[in-house]
Amino acid sequence: MKTSVVTGGASGIGLELSKLLIQDNYKVFIIDNNNKNLQKLKTCLDTNSFEGIKEDMSSVSSPKKIYNKLKDKNIEVLVNNAGFGDFGKFHKSDWKRDEKMINLHVLNTTHLTKLFLQDMVKKNNGKILNISSVAAFQPGPLMSLYYATKAYILHFTEAIADEVKDKNICISALCPGQTNTNFQKSVSSKKNKIKFNTSCPVKVAKYGYEALKANNTISIPGYFNKFLVFLNRLLPRNIVTKIVRYIQEKNRN
Ligand SMILES: NC(=O)c1ccc[n+]([C@@H]2O[C@H](COP(=O)([O-])OP(=O)(O)OC[C@H]3O[C@@H](n4cnc5c(N)ncnc54)[C@H](OP(=O)(O)O)[C@@H]3O)[C@@H](O)[C@H]2O)c1
Repeated sequence: MKTSVVTGGASGIGLELSKLLIQDNYKVFIIDNNNKNLQKLKTCLDTNSFEGIKEDMSSVSSPKKIYNKLKDKNIEVLVNNAGFGDFGKFHKSDWKRDEKMINLHVLNTTHLTKLFLQDMVKKNNGKILNISSVAAFQPGPLMSLYYATKAYILHFTEAIADEVKDKNICISALCPGQTNTNFQKSVSSKKNKIKFNTSCPVKVAKYGYEALKANNTISIPGYFNKFLVFLNRLLPRNIVTKIVRYIQEKNRN
């Protein structure tokens, strides 16, 4: 049986990606810190098709722990999906939470990718899907760290995808816009008001998964999201920053 790993796979986009991998006959090792959601997986997935592993992927030791556990399983697909958001001014945010985000999105995504990619290169076979965001394409006042860490994931992914382009390895960044998952609750207790461009996790996951299989380095689901990213290239950066701040203020305040 083919094998894969999905971090944050117990809900939202990660869960839908896990389902797609299972449909393609992969066994999925689903890593998540949410025990309740991990338990619920037994009711919606075939128990032979996955193994749930409870792990806080923001802990600095977690990549090595997960790799050591799974290194003999011949992992062919790695999905770095676990993530969360935060709303507010950077100077007011809790450093512990900031650090957790940097560890999860930046440090540990990088470390887990390195550990599994080294094996994939030896075998000349593998796929890595990193979940970034449309937030990656511009600065994000009031969600500064989230936008910046997602930009890191995007640039890192593009660069390493290029480094292995002569090999049988696909590395891709999925950049969703607003998606209807529990993520929004992690951003703020205040509900987001701008909802017209909200997508569903099933569609987003399918789009990213197909892009990975097609060896597309970047995928942006939804015409409006693609348009926003395109607009970014035309407008001066300070104007883009002002627009993002305006949208964030309207959305959450
Ligand atoms: N939804 C959106 O609008 C949107 C847009 C662009 C990009 N994204 C990205 O898409 C990815 C998936 O998010 P989602 O929308 O599917 O949200 P979600 O439904 O909250 O799923 C994220 C999963 O990751 C888990 N997780 C969070 N921190 C973790 C940690 N330290 N260790 C292990 N697991 C952890 C969560 O557990 P808990 O329930 O315990 O938090 C949850 O099960 C994230 O990287 C997010 O940044 C989302």
